[in-house]
Amino acid sequence: MLVKTYGSAIHGIDAIIITIEVNISQGKKFYLVGLPDNAVKESHHRLVAVINNIDFKFPRRRIVINMAPADIKKEGSAYDLPIAIAILSASEQITDHRLNEFVMMGELSLDGSLKPVKGALPMAIKAKENKFKGIIVPEENVKEAAIVEGIDVYGFRHISDVIRMLNNETKEGLVKIDPTEQLTQFNLYPFDFEDVKGQENIKRALEIAAAGGHNVIMIGPPGSGKTMLAKRLPSILPPMALEEALETTKIHSVAGLLHGDSALVSTRPYRSPHHTISDAGLVGGGTYPQPGEISLAQNGVLFLDELPEFKRTVLEVMRQPMEDRIVTISRAKVTVDYPASFMLIAAMNPCPCGYYNHPDKDCVCSPGVVKSYLNKISGPLMDRIDLHVEVTPVPYSELADAKSGEKSEQVRQRVIKARNIQDKRFSNQNNIYNNAQMESRDLNKYCSLNESGQHLLKIAMEKLSLSARAYDRIIKVARTIADLENKENIETEHLAEAIQYRSLDRDNWGL
Ligand SMILES: Nc1ncnc2c1ncn2[C@@H]1O[C@H](COP(=O)(O)OP(=O)(O)O)[C@@H](O)[C@H]1O
Ligand SMILES: [Mg+2]
Ligand SMILES: [Zn+2]
Repeated sequence: MLVKTYGSAIHGIDAIIITIEVNISQGKKFYLVGLPDNAVKESHHRLVAVINNIDFKFPRRRIVINMAPADIKKEGSAYDLPIAIAILSASEQITDHRLNEFVMMGELSLDGSLKPVKGALPMAIKAKENKFKGIIVPEENVKEAAIVEGIDVYGFRHISDVIRMLNNETKEGLVKIDPTEQLTQFNLYPFDFEDVKGQENIKRALEIAAAGGHNVIMIGPPGSGKTMLAKRLPSILPPMALEEALETTKIHSVAGLLHGDSALVSTRPYRSPHHTISDAGLVGGGTYPQPGEISLAQNGVLFLDELPEFKRTVLEVMRQPMEDRIVTISRAKVTVDYPASFMLIAAMNPCPCGYYNHPDKDCVCSPGVVKSYLNKISGPLMDRIDLHVEVTPVPYSELADAKSGEKSEQVRQRVIKARNIQDKRFSNQNNIYNNAQMESRDLNKYCSLNESGQHLLKIAMEKLSLSARAYDRIIKVARTIADLENKENIETEHLAEAIQYRSLDRDNWGL
């Protein structure tokens, strides 16, 4: 007897429906065809054990399993469930009435319990598009998939529960989640700017960065609070729109990071990969391509701590994705795209010992050493960083007394207002959403300077020996500062402030 079930494969951040055909006839062999990888091939032994362990019979006949389309490589053991159900149905141990209604995925333990799979959310989206009535996934994956409206999402712990639901044609295991409710309920951040004492100028710089979507680097000695500040950046960004949350959730679903109770990634992600990370870990890759940190940070924040410690080649590979806001991974047979639109916040010590320019402590590095340390970060990545902020530690004696800061929520309200102005400004322009994304031609259109502004900028460029690349960045940042003040035009004071955020461009960095 021939039976069909449906599973799914992941391509980029989307799913593809896979048809699993099982035919049972006279004979005794087991065939699995249609480009399955080794893990799928090994499923034979696992399935024999599972089916016998749950008191059904593994048919001792000729079993041919075909997975289509054949040109898509079938990865991993997540096809256990649709294959097992098809075998049980083809051997007439369970009804095939509803098998054409569902897409199902799940890895099986030998006792028949279901282990989580990757990509349950894109699977639900694809199944809905293809007019399936529902999907069946392991319980750990049910929430991420159940935020898709208009399709029934079932979650189970054990294959026996799936069989019971199919045989009795019940709705047992059905889970519904309201995505909008998720968005409002869980939009909470674990860290708040309120905890950061003093450092008003740094907080101001981060507010500007958040308001215009500008990448930022903090330079300061160990213990000055760089990591503490970076962790709080997501909390002042505007709340995620449902569309953004879905996009980020999809990437995290494909990466298999959503086990447990999170349904929708409704807070902006904060990713802080260690400097020993590989190219593939940072930008994505692998034999079966997986999204990297820059994609997991989609719509959120990527923190690169101790920037000069990262291998130069690793930083080089970020250049293209940062420009395109998308990363393309090419393998022998497949090319996939992952979104990569994030805010970069980097941090570094000013020199190898950490105390260059420190108010109290002495730096032990020679000028040559400091210079080559700074040189490590020059190049493509620095070209995309708009704000440089020098962080000096709040003295220990003052930490205890210093008053606590403004709450993130209050800062966020100002950021939202500035973003609303930018939404209007760029409403007719494809692919630009904030000031940081403007190209040179947009600067002419949206950032004209009055005479005294031009004069100030000219003097600054000369006096501070600012590089040409600093020029555009200063203007963009000045545009954001003007937006924060709800000013139509960029004024001299906006420029003056923006000029302060280019410390690494100055040749008077003491060297
Ligand atoms: N401005 C500050 N307000 C409150 N605590 C601070 C401040 N600056 C530093 N700290 C404390 O010092 C610790 C070390 O800061 P950290 O962010 O790790 O510094 P860095 O990353 O620059 O080495 C923080 O976890 C925090 O407890
Ligand atoms: Mg740190
Ligand atoms: Zn030093």
